[in-house]
Amino acid sequence: MRMRRVTDDIYWLGAIDWDRRLFDGFVPLPDGTSYNCYLVRGSEKTALIDTVDPSRWDELRSNLREVPNLDYVVINHVEQDHSGSLPFVLDRYPNAKVLCTAKARSMLVEHLAIDAERVMTVEDGKTVSLGSKTLRFIFTPWVHWPETMCTYVEEDRGLFSCDMFAAHLASSDLFAGGRECVIEEAKRYYAEIMMPFASQIARHLEKLSRLEIKWIATSHGPVYDQPAAIMAAYRDWAVGGPKNLVLLLSISMHGSTQKMVEHLVGELVHRGVDVQPFDMSSADIGKVMTALADAATLVIATPTVLGGPHPNIASAAFTVNQLKPKTKYLAIIGSYGWGGHAVDQLKQLMSGVKAEMLDPVLCRGLPADADYAALSALADTIAARHRELDAKGA
Ligand code: FEO
Repeated sequence: MRMRRVTDDIYWLGAIDWDRRLFDGFVPLPDGTSYNCYLVRGSEKTALIDTVDPSRWDELRSNLREVPNLDYVVINHVEQDHSGSLPFVLDRYPNAKVLCTAKARSMLVEHLAIDAERVMTVEDGKTVSLGSKTLRFIFTPWVHWPETMCTYVEEDRGLFSCDMFAAHLASSDLFAGGRECVIEEAKRYYAEIMMPFASQIARHLEKLSRLEIKWIATSHGPVYDQPAAIMAAYRDWAVGGPKNLVLLLSISMHGSTQKMVEHLVGELVHRGVDVQPFDMSSADIGKVMTALADAATLVIATPTVLGGPHPNIASAAFTVNQLKPKTKYLAIIGSYGWGGHAVDQLKQLMSGVKAEMLDPVLCRGLPADADYAALSALADTIAARHRELDAKGA
C-alpha cells in the first residue's frame, strides 16, 4: 500500500495485514489488522510516528523511498508490532534520533538492542518543533504497557494515540467515518488488552478532554475523522457501569450441565435480564472478552473433570481474572459424577475479581426438580441485583 495523505503534510505509511488471524498467540483477529505509522513533514524537520511490525518492514521501506531525510522517529509504544522495524529505520537514516519516554528508552535497549545514544527522552507536556508542525507529548502510561504516550500535532489538532482507541481491522478505507463496525472492533481490542487498565485510561481520557482533537490516528485500524464517537465509547467502557447482562460461559460433556444452562438462560430472559451464552469448547475468546466488558454478572457452568472444572473453563476463569472486569456478581453452576473441587478451584482462579460470589448450584448427575428450582432462585437473585445496580445508576 502506498503512502496516503491524512492531512496537509501528514501521511499514513503502514501495512495492512488482511490475513493475520491470531495476535499474541491467543487473540483471534477475525478481520485482520493493520500496523500504522505516520510521517509528519514540518518546514524544517521530518518525523516518523512509530514504525510497523518487523514482518512488514519491506512495505515501510518501499514507502520510505519518498522520504530522503528523517530527523526523528517518535516511539509512542515499544511493543514490537510498532517498534519492531525501528532498527531498520535507524540503519537507513543514520542521523535520525528516537523520541520517547524514559521508560521506553530502556525498553528499546532491552527488547530491540537500540543504541541508547540515539534515543532522546521527552517530558510529559513538552514539545518538539519541526518548523511548521509542533509535536506535543502526552504521557499515557499503562495503555497497555508502562511506557506509553500519545503525540499531539498542535497545528492540526491531531492525536497519534498508538494502541489507545485502536481496532484490529484490515480495511482499504483510510478514515473510519461514522462506521459502527470500527467502534465494535475497537471495543473488542479494548476488552482484550485494555480492560485491566480502566482506571488509568479514565485519567487519560480526562487529560485528553482538555485538548481540541479533530482526528485520532491510531496504530491499528482506520483514522478517526469523527473522534467524538470513539472517545465517548472509551468513556463508557472504562468509566461507565456494567449493563443488565449475564455472560454465561459453559461446557457440557454429557448433557447435564447443558440442561442447567438452558433452564437458567430461560429464567433470566423471563425476568428481563439479557444473556450472552458461550460454549467454551468452540467460542471466540475475543467475543467472550467483549461481552465481559459490559456484563454485570458472570455465570460459569462446568462439569467436573479430573476432580475440577473443565480445562477450557479453567482457562476462561484465569483470563477473566487477568482482565479485572467491572463485573459485580459471579456464580458457578454445574454437574458432577461423584465429587470434586470445581467450585473451590474456580473461586481460587478468579480470586482477583472484585465481585460478590453468589451461591453455587451443583447437581449430581442429571438435574432434578430441586436443582431447577435452585437455578430459578439464582435467576431471581441476579435479576434483583441488576435492578439494584440500575437504581444506583451503577
Ligand atoms: Fe501494544 Fe499494538 O501493540
